[in-house]
Amino acid sequence: MNIDCIPILKSLRAYKNEGAVPFHMPGHKRGNIYKKTGLDFLSEDILALDTTEVPGVDNLHCPEGAVLEAQGLAAEAFGADYTFFLVNGTTSGIYSMIMASANPGDKIIIPRNCHRSVYGAVILGRLIPVYIEPEIDDEFGIAMGIKPETVENILEKHSDAKAVVITNPTFYGVCSDLKRIAEIVHSRGMLLLVDEAHGSHFCFNERLPISALEAGADMTSQSIHKTLPSMTQSSMLHVKSERVDIEKLKVFLQLVQTTSPSHILLASLDAARFIMQQYGHELLDDAIDWSNWARSEINDTEGCCCLGPDRAGRYGAVDFDPTRLTVNFGASGLSGTKAEEILRKNFKIQVEMSDLYNIVAITTIGDYRSDYEAFVNAVKKLVETAEKRKAKAMAPAVFFRPQEPSLMPWEAVYYEKEQVDMGQSIGRICGEMIIPYPPGIPVLMPGETISREIYEYLKLCVEYGIKLNGISDSKPKKVWVLKNNKKEV
Ligand SMILES: Cc1ncc(COP(=O)(O)O)c(C=O)c1O
Repeated sequence: MNIDCIPILKSLRAYKNEGAVPFHMPGHKRGNIYKKTGLDFLSEDILALDTTEVPGVDNLHCPEGAVLEAQGLAAEAFGADYTFFLVNGTTSGIYSMIMASANPGDKIIIPRNCHRSVYGAVILGRLIPVYIEPEIDDEFGIAMGIKPETVENILEKHSDAKAVVITNPTFYGVCSDLKRIAEIVHSRGMLLLVDEAHGSHFCFNERLPISALEAGADMTSQSIHKTLPSMTQSSMLHVKSERVDIEKLKVFLQLVQTTSPSHILLASLDAARFIMQQYGHELLDDAIDWSNWARSEINDTEGCCCLGPDRAGRYGAVDFDPTRLTVNFGASGLSGTKAEEILRKNFKIQVEMSDLYNIVAITTIGDYRSDYEAFVNAVKKLVETAEKRKAKAMAPAVFFRPQEPSLMPWEAVYYEKEQVDMGQSIGRICGEMIIPYPPGIPVLMPGETISREIYEYLKLCVEYGIKLNGISDSKPKKVWVLKNNKKEV
């Protein structure tokens, strides 16, 4: 068989054969967690189990049997009134919970640094976004938490908004004061919706930050596949509230998900819940201890430092996910993107992502102690030996500062567009989402003006090898902008 004729399989096989230590999602870490918990049979039978809704196998969209039972067990485990299994990722949970909470033309309060799926819900639901500006940590060059006072001030001005969305934790493991935010939001009769894509593990160990449901969120969407052991794309949406219209929510869940859901994904969600109930607390204790050890070793190394609890109380952050290792190389003059590249090439370690200044490693209960040791040793050697390239100081505050859009995102999407060289785009109205990936936070939304500051930031991203969704790979890079601001006919 010539594998060159099957390019996707070829790329996956090449990565597997390379044997890099996976400090990235999915959280089962190449099935390691099934080995640790004696559930290897799950991965052995996978193709034989891949089936459709034959009699005896339940239906995700109107569950009456196994799926209904599994969702009930998950609701109990995660502390929800209702849990819905998702096969289109947290993205589909975010679309559904937002669209079920507001009607077209309603206002919704969202952080400017939220994930593209929140913006996607704004476009699909034809909502009016009111942006919350996150606090910025200039040393790490990242957005941190949302202050309760900021939420309070915005709600004062927009008392007609229907819901507030908070990302908790962020990709970097930063947690805001959700409990206080929930009180503020509920005192105005609004809904608190949490994008908890990176926090599914929180409710299984008291050494972790408070979970969204415990803090009082009405709905939360979690990527079980990121920090717990389930397969890529499998997520859950939890509801704990009498304010939510469950029937309306079900309508949107059916609209945004495939009519052929993979029962393998559903089974992997069920297994993840089981593993967490049986072994989760103890395994998380190990993961937290090893991550804390890695953080302290890195903090003792000259030239790098790790984001962590020592920064709690600043920049709107009240807590941090100890299992998330965000390493900054600013003091050694190494950019995050370069550090990621060297870790893979020279040390066979693949992290989840990098930005201009940092790398982010996802650790889960699937990792082994030896993985953490390999990571720490590699980071130490990296700062000692790497040929350094100073990352230019440029705070990301430029794009977290909300601008008055010329058009609503869902209007701009339907306008006639043209592609122009990036250098010619300053002052033009952007025609699409421009997103450094990961972490998937749009720098520009359709309908926003491309300022010089944003252009300079994008140029820097290109220079440092950060992939920009929405900007073509041509040279020079091209951007879609509105053509004469004329509506498409
Ligand atoms: C903060 C955040 N929210 C939502 C999502 C979407 O999650 P999913 O990939 O499960 O659809 C992501 C994905 O990276 C994310 O980082």
